Amino acid sequence: MFPVPESFGKGQWYWEDCRCIKQEREAQRRARTELLRVQTEDPLPLGLRNHSFENFKVFSFNQETYKICTSFVEKFDQIKSGQGLVLMGKSGTGKTHLACAIANSLKNKYRVQFAYVPTLLEKMRKGIIELEPLIHADLLILDDLGSERESAWTTERLLIIVDGRLTNCKPTVYTTNYEAEDLEKRLGMRLTSRILGHNVALLLHGPDYRLQRYGY
Ligand SMILES: Nc1ncnc2c1ncn2[C@@H]1O[C@H](COP(=O)(O)OP(=O)(O)OP(=O)(O)O)[C@@H](O)[C@H]1O
Ligand SMILES: [Mg+2]
Repeated sequence: MFPVPESFGKGQWYWEDCRCIKQEREAQRRARTELLRVQTEDPLPLGLRNHSFENFKVFSFNQETYKICTSFVEKFDQIKSGQGLVLMGKSGTGKTHLACAIANSLKNKYRVQFAYVPTLLEKMRKGIIELEPLIHADLLILDDLGSERESAWTTERLLIIVDGRLTNCKPTVYTTNYEAEDLEKRLGMRLTSRILGHNVALLLHGPDYRLQRYGY
């Protein structure tokens, strides 16, 4: 507070917050908005919101992967290196289900983002997606990596996200139909090296649940 010239009126005081108080208020406002966003917006599309560990049937061929996924959730707050998971396997083996079970378990406590890779790239092409939330989310699910249309442009976009998350030590869960050897052919060396080098790769076995549902 400081006195203003007499022309402003006798006894009047002019008051303005200093820059550091303004910055502090702005940071508090952003933190409040962020918190509200975590609590109100569901990051998952409607059809994937009920995928949970409870309704995932565990068999001998998927129990190891199931166990690692549940322990990823339990230890999530201890992951400082940004190490995530790569769920690989044929169609219908439960990759998206498990990735969503992870997201559903964490979404009320952390900033979680879910993206179906072909749709994500289409939105990026149209310029209607923000990169920042994808790079800085506490957890990002990239579903169906490798099923996008292949081009130098898509590889470069994916590199920005994958590398951005690694640089910020934020874990990502990938699902893909490609196994390690084919992933490099499909995505190229730079992308594959980052994905396989910094995450735990898990192969899901078993029949296609979509076709076998009633036979299990
Ligand atoms: N072990 C399981 N227990 C219960 N439901 C399962 C199991 N495995 C798969 N499902 C169900 O089967 C359907 C297909 O599974 P999901 O979408 O996870 O397959 P996917 O491995 O991601 O296949 P794609 O490679 O084609 O994307 C989903 O409805 C999912 O909930
Ligand atoms: Mg899937």
